[in-house]
Amino acid sequence: MRVHVADHPLITHKLTVLRDKNTASPTFRALTEELVTLLAYEATRNVRTEPVKIQTPVIETMGVAISHPLPLVVPILRAGLGMLDGMVKLVPTAEVGFLGLVRDEETLMPTTYAERLPDDLSNRQCFVLDPMLATGGSLVAAINYLFDRGAQDVTAICLLGTPEGLKAVDEATQGREVTIVLGALDEGLNERGYIVPGLGDAGDRLYGTV
Ligand code: URA
Repeated sequence: MRVHVADHPLITHKLTVLRDKNTASPTFRALTEELVTLLAYEATRNVRTEPVKIQTPVIETMGVAISHPLPLVVPILRAGLGMLDGMVKLVPTAEVGFLGLVRDEETLMPTTYAERLPDDLSNRQCFVLDPMLATGGSLVAAINYLFDRGAQDVTAICLLGTPEGLKAVDEATQGREVTIVLGALDEGLNERGYIVPGLGDAGDRLYGTV
């Protein structure tokens, strides 16, 4: 598993505002979108391209285009939906699939309640959007779901992560090609499974509801 933790003052600044409990949903949503666009730049570093011939006003030359099958972006409902616009802004030709996972607040285990993905993900590069890598339970479920359908490699973009979450994903995805891109690596989890210092419940902060 490859892990990239962002190291850029703009990202740290935006995360600081995001963490602040006084930041209201409209600002939280706008910042999430901006952060994902910045993180997507790193997450797509190995996106597959193929050579294309083009004609500039001056000369014929070679460039690159994103290869087919196109990358598949998979926001994990509900909070991952708040990350979708920021991702497709950077990769507008990507296809989008949906996976709905909900965490049982007692056992902290994920269950699937919605799924809209292509049946065959052979040769697909997949980009999972999930703002909080807490215990790692949801991300492990999502990543293995995609590999079971044939995905070639999976990159997860998360705003915040924990050492426990990274360890869980690493252990559950041995031998798979997995990359995790984090805005920040936080200290850990509290007894209720919240990331510390964290930002609270990302879905609630994005949508202002429970
Ligand atoms: N999910 C969240 O939204 N927040 C956390 O702190 C942990 C999991």
